[in-house]
Amino acid sequence: MKNLKQLYSATQISQRIDALANEISDDFKDLERPVVIGVLKGAIFFLSDLVRRMKTADSLQIEFVHLSSYGSARESTGRIQTPYLDLPNISHRHILIVEDIVDSGRTSRFFIDYLNDQFAPASIRLASFLDKPSGRVLDVHPDYTGFTIDKVFVVGYGLDYGGESGDCFRELPYLATLNLEIE
Ligand code: PRP
Repeated sequence: MKNLKQLYSATQISQRIDALANEISDDFKDLERPVVIGVLKGAIFFLSDLVRRMKTADSLQIEFVHLSSYGSARESTGRIQTPYLDLPNISHRHILIVEDIVDSGRTSRFFIDYLNDQFAPASIRLASFLDKPSGRVLDVHPDYTGFTIDKVFVVGYGLDYGGESGDCFRELPYLATLNLEIE
């Protein structure tokens, strides 16, 4: 499709996640039953690729929430919606949040504050496939980042464009910039 331009190939993504999984495993390997929480929908592929490469002494507990800030817009709306926010009791546990992108930081800030308030975790760390510092409104810094990107709109590898007909391009195995000006 001519308005899609590949930014990172499936191979580049896979290699980067190998390195990230090693780094995260080093930090989590001796922790008791770490909880990994994926933020749907965007983090589906990143989480599944990441946790299958992690090596920890204890098994991971994997949970999901669905948070949304973009709606159908190309920029973060500023309002966090919580279509699914049903977690078991994970009080005082070590938590790894897995996001597809930190843009304004609102979603991550909301979720970190929520987890701190509800569960007083032993620790919270944030892994994001993408970091887009140019969009930042709140002071949020991922502890682990796959790629840092410029001020571009990206799709693929879990990230979607919410067009009139619903989510598009989430299924692409690579990451691409989307130029909506070109027909
Ligand atoms: C995206 C993404 C992050 C959030 C990042 O979710 O998955 O959760 O926005 O933006 P922020 O840093 O500006 O808050 P989106 O609303 O697109 O929902 P989706 O993952 O279900 O597509």
